[in-house]
Amino acid sequence: MNNLLQADNLKVHFKLPGDGLLRPGHRLLKAVDGVSLELRPGETLGVVGESGCGKSTLARGILGLVPLTSGRVKLEEQSLSGLSTRQLRAYRQQMQIVFQDPLASLDPRMTVGEIIAEPLQVFEPRLDRKSGKARVQQMMERVGLLPNLINRYPHEFSGGQCQRIGIARALILHPKLLICDEPVSALDVSIQAQIINLLMDLQQEMDLSMLFIAHDLSVVKQISHRVMVMYLGKVVETASRDDMYRNPGHPYTQALIDAIPIPDPRIERNKTFIPLQGDLPSPLNPPSGCSFRTRCPRATELCAREEPPIQDAGQGHQVICHFPGQS
Ligand SMILES: Nc1ncnc2c1ncn2[C@@H]1O[C@H](COP(=O)(O)OP(=O)(O)OP(=O)(O)O)[C@@H](O)[C@H]1O
Ligand code: SF4
Ligand SMILES: [Mg+2]
Repeated sequence: MNNLLQADNLKVHFKLPGDGLLRPGHRLLKAVDGVSLELRPGETLGVVGESGCGKSTLARGILGLVPLTSGRVKLEEQSLSGLSTRQLRAYRQQMQIVFQDPLASLDPRMTVGEIIAEPLQVFEPRLDRKSGKARVQQMMERVGLLPNLINRYPHEFSGGQCQRIGIARALILHPKLLICDEPVSALDVSIQAQIINLLMDLQQEMDLSMLFIAHDLSVVKQISHRVMVMYLGKVVETASRDDMYRNPGHPYTQALIDAIPIPDPRIERNKTFIPLQGDLPSPLNPPSGCSFRTRCPRATELCAREEPPIQDAGQGHQVICHFPGQS
């Protein structure tokens, strides 16, 4: 089966001003540094990593919302680089995003109906008012909102309902790819489950492919078919969901899995939990060799000297580490 989305060696580097006399000129922040991924139709890829590791920049790079320093994005085999603005529009319609902070991502001066209808006005300007309203109300119903609330404003809704509005807006054009950038991080745990279940139902109904971004592995577990773990702008491990949780090969993935609380308090208390040491290094000054080495219990002199290779563990499971394996 052909991939819906393919990203090859994406780099998004930001040029920042120098910091005075010691370092004049500019400094390069490598927010995304050589990420490749593929997504099949109807598949969900979970993208996980700590704050600042480049997840949102990767999403924005794929959507063309931030310029790529290098690399290529293909949607349904069509490369998106080098397309004219008009050609790109048609592809933009196929790729939509849901943001983390539901209320902040909705314009407070617009009614729910206007917010959800906005993409229709841009991409289907000839649609008459009555049909537009019917499409909006149908979509509201599909995401679990009462259609008669169409003239209300975002501040009249709860966080979970606002996220439903964001999802309705993202899906009104029936895109093929939905990027969810930490869509449940700002919500209570009980509401998180409702939104994840809603996204899973909509994915089935609409045959959507999803990139689902989160900063911990527990959130992506339910929704993802495959999982990709990022650290300081790079991919450190990719695997099918079950393989990733049962058989993690990278010490960073192992630390993220160890950090997932176990619901049974007796097991949780007796867990041999090795917390992740130290903070994420500055992406302006990443460690030499393996960028995880400053926090890795397995690091050796080789890790400081050489970037780790991609180790193939079979069935699409890849670990980028000199010494992959069990902790
Ligand atoms: N426009 C920009 N200009 C300069 N640096 C940026 C810009 N956007 C992001 N960055 C930097 O790039 C790095 C990656 O940021 P990004 O927002 O992609 O991380 P993230 O994984 O999404 O984090 P979070 O979990 O907090 O959302 C960070 O160091 C951030 O400060
Ligand atoms: S390459 Fe070395 S430092 Fe990096 S994760 Fe593997 S063992 Fe740790
Ligand atoms: Mg982010």
